[in-house]
Amino acid sequence: MGWPVMHSRSPMLHNYWFRQHNLAGTYVPLAIRPEGLAAALRALHPLGFAGCNLTIPHKEQALTIVDEVDNVARRIGAISCVIVGPDGSLAGTNNDCYGFVHAIRQEEPSWRADAGPIVVLGAGGGSRAVCYGLAQEGAREIRLVNRTLERAQAIADEFGGPIRALAWDERHDALEGASMVVNTTSQGMVGQAELDIRLDRLPKSSLAADIVYIPLETPFLAEARRRGNRTVNGLGMLLQQARPAWKAWFGVEPEVTAELRQMVEKTI
Ligand SMILES: NC(=O)c1ccc[n+]([C@@H]2O[C@H](COP(=O)([O-])OP(=O)(O)OC[C@H]3O[C@@H](n4cnc5c(N)ncnc54)[C@H](OP(=O)(O)O)[C@@H]3O)[C@@H](O)[C@H]2O)c1
Repeated sequence: MGWPVMHSRSPMLHNYWFRQHNLAGTYVPLAIRPEGLAAALRALHPLGFAGCNLTIPHKEQALTIVDEVDNVARRIGAISCVIVGPDGSLAGTNNDCYGFVHAIRQEEPSWRADAGPIVVLGAGGGSRAVCYGLAQEGAREIRLVNRTLERAQAIADEFGGPIRALAWDERHDALEGASMVVNTTSQGMVGQAELDIRLDRLPKSSLAADIVYIPLETPFLAEARRRGNRTVNGLGMLLQQARPAWKAWFGVEPEVTAELRQMVEKTI
């Protein structure tokens, strides 16, 4: 469910798994206005749905609607996946941080969150999932840089631990000695300006990741790749976050295969 939602690649990926697992089901995009979210979620059970995913702008509002919210969704402050119980009850969870961490692991198997300081650019919804995932994975220092410092500070205050909020002016210098940098801002996404950052302080050994996946290679990632950094784009996060949803809905753990990835890449 989203508004808008028709651009979503999720139906293509979930329907690939329905075919792979010979399950008689289908995944459909549901364009739901914000004011209709509660009624739409309550209709899942009578309509026979096992659950749904939520995207912009529903992830926060859903917290006030579902019957049960797990710890991950509560801490991140957003629900990305709803599971319908046999009695019609609705349970909310968040698979975005699983998606981010597992995408990095799949593409960079030797990656470790505690290898050195990590710079996260942006402090929106995506950033909250990324910061939570990195902290859970044992990151020792997260330099969280955001245009609006207060939003970064709010995440640092809420999550505590390794997160330190930095002002947007500090973004270039924050890269000094970093083992990883992650763009979670919407900059670089199709229709948006490029992310404005100089990479000269970023060690060549650092991993550069972007959660934006349209385009697959943002100007930020292209620049990082040109100067010799390893890069991970945002598509893996989208694909990986769908796996635990299947485990919850159908008790099956589907794979993100090269074929699936290529199929989705072709549409971007
Ligand atoms: N791969 C995936 O599965 C996945 C998952 C989630 C999101 N995403 C992608 O990640 C991006 C962000 O999504 P979101 O949900 O986190 O969005 P969001 O909550 O709206 O946050 C947007 C972030 O971008 C920053 N920003 C916007 N314009 C900027 C500018 N001109 N200069 C500097 N910073 C700017 C915002 O800073 P302020 O706080 O100052 O406004 C904020 O930190 C989107 O492209 C989305 O598609 C991908």
